[in-house]
Amino acid sequence: MSIQLIASTTFGLESVVKRECQALGFQDIKTADGKVEFTGDEKDIVKANLWLRCAGRVWVKMGSFTAVTFTELFDRTKALPWGEWIPEDGKFTVVGKSVKSTLFSVPDCQAIVKKAIVEKLKEKYQTDWFDETGASYTIQVGILKDVVTLAIDTSGSGLHMRGYRANALDAPLKESIASAMVQLSYWRKDRILLDPFCGSGTIPIEAAMLARNIAPGLQRKFASEEWGRIGKELWKKARAEAYQAIDYDVTPEIYGSDIDPAAIALAKENAEKAGVDDCITFEVKPSQEITLPGKYGVLITNPPYGERIGELKEVEEMYRALGATMKSDRTWSTYVITSMEYFETLFGRQADKKRKLFNGRIKTDYYQFEGPRPPRA
Ligand SMILES: C[S@@+](CC[C@H](N)C(=O)[O-])C[C@H]1O[C@@H](n2cnc3c(N)ncnc32)[C@H](O)[C@@H]1O
Repeated sequence: MSIQLIASTTFGLESVVKRECQALGFQDIKTADGKVEFTGDEKDIVKANLWLRCAGRVWVKMGSFTAVTFTELFDRTKALPWGEWIPEDGKFTVVGKSVKSTLFSVPDCQAIVKKAIVEKLKEKYQTDWFDETGASYTIQVGILKDVVTLAIDTSGSGLHMRGYRANALDAPLKESIASAMVQLSYWRKDRILLDPFCGSGTIPIEAAMLARNIAPGLQRKFASEEWGRIGKELWKKARAEAYQAIDYDVTPEIYGSDIDPAAIALAKENAEKAGVDDCITFEVKPSQEITLPGKYGVLITNPPYGERIGELKEVEEMYRALGATMKSDRTWSTYVITSMEYFETLFGRQADKKRKLFNGRIKTDYYQFEGPRPPRA
């Protein structure tokens, strides 16, 4: 039976996640703000969790309906087939959000949804008591302009948590955004990549994982691994296939540098954990001193934004210096994410493309300066 699935995304990354879903062979793909919907089966839940690099979480969509009263919310929630997913011993919690809707009290909506599901499960399992000792199910009630969507979280912690970045420094970039930045660029595994503000190494590591075809979820656990409906066998098989799919013969040329020695030490550790340390050369170096290694390379970076007190002048200088460095070799392409609105003026060039992205709560632009394609070998 086909299951309706939702991959949630950061605003601005819907098209990237859609492309990933297409590449994974999912069906009936549709995008909306902050999500990509598709249909699939239990195997696809496993595949989506293991392989989607840029999505937030993967959800089973239980249903969607209009509700403006608590009675409507209760009745329509109860009408859905919760017993198809939640077993008698299932432990479930309800989380919620409401935007521009008549039913605006999220705690009340959560309580009503929980009650409706319990009533439904009582009928299904012919019992009045659930001891909730089994697998966990997190259900989200999302209400947008009076349209309620009910979904069960198959992922658990967000998919950006790959497992290689145990310790993060200040202002780390989400792994999912770093991967999207790489996927939105002209970089391919046979081109040089440089990140001169690499911090804990997220952009270089995500690029190397892409190049080696390392599934981003290989080193972590997912909520639905414990679900009876999916079963451990599917997970085991998909993991084994993902290990088989890694291409260790590919060793891209990637460079990461940062002014902070602690960041570089951490980046090295993270790259090792991710299985890509032999692809990346890390170095402690101020960005003003970088030289471009080779021709037709791609610089992708997440520099400081100048938002901290006292940092602005210094950051402006860094952006000017980066502009001068990149001007010295027009074969390079440059991709920078920043919230600074006059970045192009400091960098000294109008971007070929700009894409609005949210880095956490910070509204940023992803500036794209595209150099020429390398000549054919
Ligand atoms: C926003 S953070 C980058 C975070 C990184 N993308 C990650 O995921 O960990 C900016 C980085 O720029 C570094 N930095 C600040 N000034 C620098 C400079 N002049 N040259 C090189 N790196 C600098 C900081 O140490 C910090 O690691």
